[in-house]
Amino acid sequence: MKITKICCIGAGYVGGPTMSVIASQCPEIQVTVVDLSKERIDLWNHSDLDKLPVYEPGLKELVEKTRGKNLFFSTEIDKAIDEAEMIFISVNTPTKTYGKGKGQAADLKNIELCARNIAKVAKTNKIVVEKSTLPVRTASAIKSILDNTGNGVDFEILSNPEFLAEGTAIDDLLNADRVLIGGAETEKGQTAKDALAGIYQHWLPKDRILQTNVWSSELSKLVANAFLAQRVSSINSISALCEKTDANVAEVSRAIGYDSRIGAKFLNSSVGFGGSCFQKDILNLVYIAQSYGLQEVADYWEQVIIMNDYQKRRFAENIVTTLYNTVSGKKIVFYGWAFKKDTNDTRESAAIYVADALLDEKAEIVIYDPKVPESQVYEDLDYLGTRSPEENRRLLKVVNDPLKASEEAHAIAILTEWDEFKNYDWKIIYDKMLKPAFVFDGRRLLEKDTMQEIGFEYYKIGQS
Ligand code: NAD
Ligand code: UGA
Repeated sequence: MKITKICCIGAGYVGGPTMSVIASQCPEIQVTVVDLSKERIDLWNHSDLDKLPVYEPGLKELVEKTRGKNLFFSTEIDKAIDEAEMIFISVNTPTKTYGKGKGQAADLKNIELCARNIAKVAKTNKIVVEKSTLPVRTASAIKSILDNTGNGVDFEILSNPEFLAEGTAIDDLLNADRVLIGGAETEKGQTAKDALAGIYQHWLPKDRILQTNVWSSELSKLVANAFLAQRVSSINSISALCEKTDANVAEVSRAIGYDSRIGAKFLNSSVGFGGSCFQKDILNLVYIAQSYGLQEVADYWEQVIIMNDYQKRRFAENIVTTLYNTVSGKKIVFYGWAFKKDTNDTRESAAIYVADALLDEKAEIVIYDPKVPESQVYEDLDYLGTRSPEENRRLLKVVNDPLKASEEAHAIAILTEWDEFKNYDWKIIYDKMLKPAFVFDGRRLLEKDTMQEIGFEYYKIGQS
């Protein structure tokens, strides 16, 4: 089966980059990315490519090459569904904030809306691809909606979870370790899986495209994120022990990572993992395990989140303790607000929680991040609902000049590992700050000896 037209519902961090790559690698396929948000679609169509709603290295070049040729961004959802043979669902699936499963289960409201919309509009057979991360067995719910409200057309549901990481999305897509395609173990299911595999085979070798049943594919996505996050929490737990014992967490990571059975990746100790998915997906896994009566399994994975919360709290508490047990009225500058470097995404960023804890202590916080706008910082804080929006704006300021920010500061905290922070002239920063001048490095970005030679009181996570 040859695919000529694709529709992707959801023009976010996954839909945008994924479809840009497909469009650039498959010039004969017309790709239309649709979204309910007119604002987002307008930004994807903006003539100034620096205004795209997602910042990813290499993305704007791909959009420039394909937009208006075989890549389109539109709010005409029904039209795009109608025309496409294959429809990717790439909408957000956040943690539920209400009702049963509140705080744990995935909110599938958007997914269901998409399924109902496809059922309403489709007049020809469609392959529907779950690109969003979903609880295991969601495909059966989608299938039931499509089969019961459709216009007698045939729907084949595939699970094709996305494994890209933000900041490296384009490279991850172009050089994926693997692509996972789950589908029904029937003749029609196989035809659909092969059609999707055919798209990826434009640029990836066949042996990196894994085919499984739908449930294994859905579950593997949650498990992959849980394993990755578990490594970060494991090394972060050891960072606390290192600080008590004069061991150095970087040396421990290196020593264990050399064991090919353990491997070196995802062993960088930090102020805690953030991002829209690790926490959400683990909470979802916990919820699913609980709902099947597997309490021990649920408890095991929940510990990954508990450790991550501890790490963020520990970092904030260390700042307070080190600054003579009070930060009230003290100026603390944050370098970085995004949840990792090379992205403008701030969802679940550790910086939000560290700021919240320090604001509770009446610190005066100044934020500098090269890619995150002021409005986003306030939105993140206001969302927590800890204090009034007015108080957040009174106690916390967002600036564009990192060096000026350091004037008369009591401390600088590094919350994101942006490369530019390494290249600053830290002597100039030191001269501008109040003395003793403290730096709390939550990303292990700077060299302890150099910082101490300049005169800083320098604290690096995982090192005494
Ligand atoms: P996002 O919030 O950036 O984008 C989702 C988009 O879907 C939004 O623009 C929203 O307006 C749109 N949308 C929601 N409901 C809609 C509907 N009914 N019709 C049309 N548009 C609708 O989310 P994201 O980060 O792209 O994540 C999408 C999914 O991919 C999630 O399930 C997530 O877990 C998963 N995922 C994300 C990443 C990542 O790095 N962000 C990586 C892998 C998987
Ligand atoms: C993660 C996974 O890596 C992707 O495979 C997955 O597709 C994605 O989640 C998703 O499902 O959304 P992402 O969250 O974009 O990608 O970024 P990561 O590189 O995994 O980093 C997540 C967090 O962990 C960041 O805050 C990062 O700073 C932190 N981290 C990562 C560490 O603290 N130490 C490490 O060694 C690695």
